[in-house]
Amino acid sequence: MTDKTVLITGANKSIGYETARQLGGQGFRIWLGSRDADRGQAAAASLAAEGIAVRALTLDVTSDESVRCAVARVEREDGKLDILINNAGISGLQPILPSEQPLHDIKAIYETNVFAPIRVTQAFLPLLKATIDASVIMVSSGLGSLGWLSDPSNQFHGVNILGYNSSKTALNAVTVAFAKELAGSGITVNAADPGYTATDFNGHSGYRTVEQAAAGIVWLATRTARDMTGGFYFEQNEVPW
Ligand SMILES: NC(=O)c1ccc[n+]([C@@H]2O[C@H](COP(=O)([O-])OP(=O)(O)OC[C@H]3O[C@@H](n4cnc5c(N)ncnc54)[C@H](OP(=O)(O)O)[C@@H]3O)[C@@H](O)[C@H]2O)c1
Repeated sequence: MTDKTVLITGANKSIGYETARQLGGQGFRIWLGSRDADRGQAAAASLAAEGIAVRALTLDVTSDESVRCAVARVEREDGKLDILINNAGISGLQPILPSEQPLHDIKAIYETNVFAPIRVTQAFLPLLKATIDASVIMVSSGLGSLGWLSDPSNQFHGVNILGYNSSKTALNAVTVAFAKELAGSGITVNAADPGYTATDFNGHSGYRTVEQAAAGIVWLATRTARDMTGGFYFEQNEVPW
């Protein structure tokens, strides 16, 4: 067991839950973020039954008040945070043509996938600065890669979903911005693409398992090289923005 702590948002199920399970298995102390307290408690109980040191943390990433309460609790109980994984995300209406996607749907996607990771990262920065070699991971998507989406030979070229794809492209830009500001402060900031993974997110149509998806996130979250910041990774390889 290490004294290192990890907060994963949206960890009551799917990729976030499995990321908590794998990091907990490595001895990290887990803050299991969940917007619904009961779902968070149930998920935490099931990880605790595996011997993982886990605390459920009620955290709706779209709510200033919820984030404020979560920060206050982590500060009260630990006084620091070593790793923040911004995993919570939504897909919005899919499939739908860019010309037909309602603006209110796109705005809702951006609230969760773009503005929320900014909110959560800003709010937890003082606790990340209170430790050494802290790390922030943005769980992005290959569908946010302009390099891949503009390459006709890429598997994602035909997946033209305006709201979701552009939200993850924006999240990648957010990653670069935080990485630049925090370079030299001991906090690295990187984006991870979990790959197309079978979860509720896509009606379990993905071809990757949550174990595979989480493994790449865990690998990235546990790098300690301070110069490894401002990158976008799939599994253990850097991929194009
Ligand atoms: N699955 C894929 O193929 C795939 C591919 C690339 C990237 N990703 C990214 O990977 C991440 C996880 O995806 P997933 O497949 O595990 O999705 P999922 O099965 O839909 O799970 C999403 C998680 O996010 C939580 N969440 C949603 N809105 C929230 C909010 N406002 N506050 C707090 N938590 C919230 C959900 O909580 P509730 O249970 O309360 O709804 C759930 O725990 C997302 O960022 C997604 O964009 C997924």
